[in-house]
Amino acid sequence: MKTKIGIIGAGNVGATTAHIALMRDLGDIYLLDIAADMAKGKAIDLNQSKFLMNSDAKVEGGDDYSKINECDIIVVTAGLARKPGMTRDDLLFKNFEIIKDISLKIKQSQKSPIVIVVSNPLDVMAYTAWKVTGFPRNRVLGMAGVLDTYRFYHFLQNKFEVPSRYVESMILGSHGDTMVPLISHTKVAGKDLSSRVSQEEITALSDNARNGGAEIVALLKTGSAYYAPAASVIRMLESIVLGRKGTIPCSVLAEGEYGYKDLFLGLPVTLGSSGLQKIIELKMTEAEKKQLDDSAASIKEQINKIKDKI
Ligand code: NAI
Ligand code: 2OP
Repeated sequence: MKTKIGIIGAGNVGATTAHIALMRDLGDIYLLDIAADMAKGKAIDLNQSKFLMNSDAKVEGGDDYSKINECDIIVVTAGLARKPGMTRDDLLFKNFEIIKDISLKIKQSQKSPIVIVVSNPLDVMAYTAWKVTGFPRNRVLGMAGVLDTYRFYHFLQNKFEVPSRYVESMILGSHGDTMVPLISHTKVAGKDLSSRVSQEEITALSDNARNGGAEIVALLKTGSAYYAPAASVIRMLESIVLGRKGTIPCSVLAEGEYGYKDLFLGLPVTLGSSGLQKIIELKMTEAEKKQLDDSAASIKEQINKIKDKI
C-alpha cells in the first residue's frame, strides 16, 4: 500500500517538500493549510507536474484534518518564517500556539503516524508536538540537523572543490546559534578536516554553517530558506519510507543519551519504518561535549518558557 504523507503548512517548505516527495514517488500527499484554497491550488499544480517523472503519487489539498489523520507520516511546516533581523527565538511564542493547536488535532489520528516537525524554533516545537500528542518518542522527530549539516557540506565543498560525496560531517545540538559542528567527525576526501586546515579556518567554516540560514533570510527579505530545508525533510522521509540507511542528525527526545533528559536536541540517529530506531552515541572531544552541553542548556531554557502553557 502507498504511504500517505500529510504536510501541514502549504507554504514554501511544505509545498517544496511535496514537490520533491511527488517527484520521488514517496507516497500520496495531503497538503493542508489554513489558506485552504491556496493548498488546493498548489495540489492541482503539483498533480499536473508529475508526468515529467512518471510519478503515480497523488496530491490533494485543503484544510481537512480527517485527511491528515489518515496519513502514516505528518510533516509540520505551519507557522511563521523568520523575517530579516528576527531571530528563531522571536518566533517562539507565536509558533508555539500554532503547533500546540495542530498537535491537538493530530492526536486524534487512529493511525499511529510519525510526525516530523519543521517549524521554528525547531527543538522546542518538536518538544511541544511530542508533549501535546502524547506519542511515543520514536514517532516525533524534528528536522534541522540534516539541513545544518548540508549547509556545512556546502561550505566545505566550496573550499576544497571536491565532489559532494567526498565531504562527511554532522552538526548536532540546537537548530540555533549554539549548534555544534562535530569537527572530530568531519572529513574531506577521507582526511580529517583538522589535518587539512588551521583552527581559524575551521572556526570560519563552522560560523558559515551556523549563519547559513540568516544569510539567506537577509537576501530573500520576505522569508527564509526552503529548497535545502525541503531536501532535508526528504532525506528523513527516505529512511522512513524507503529504508535508506545511514546515521543522520535529527532532533529527538533524549532519555538519558549523552546525559540529557526531557528535551529535544539534534543527535545522531538511525530512522526506519517506525521512526526513530536508535540514538547513536558517538565519541567526541571534551570541547565538543561542552559545546553540546551549552546547546542543550539553551534549548532547556526555551522549553522552560513554554512548558507551563502546554
Ligand atoms: P511559509 O510562510 O512559506 O509557510 C507557512 C505556512 O503555514 C503558510 O502557508 C501559512 O498559511 C501556514 N499556516 C500558518 N498557521 C497555520 C495553521 N495553524 N495551520 C495550518 N497552516 C498554517 O513559511 P516556510 O518558509 O514554509 O517556513 C515554515 C516554518 O518552517 C517556519 O516556522 C520556518 O521558520 C520553519 N523552518 C524550519 C527549518 C528547519 O531547519 N527546521 C528550515 C526552514 C524553515
Ligand atoms: C533556516 O535555518 C529558517 O531555520 C530556518 O533556514
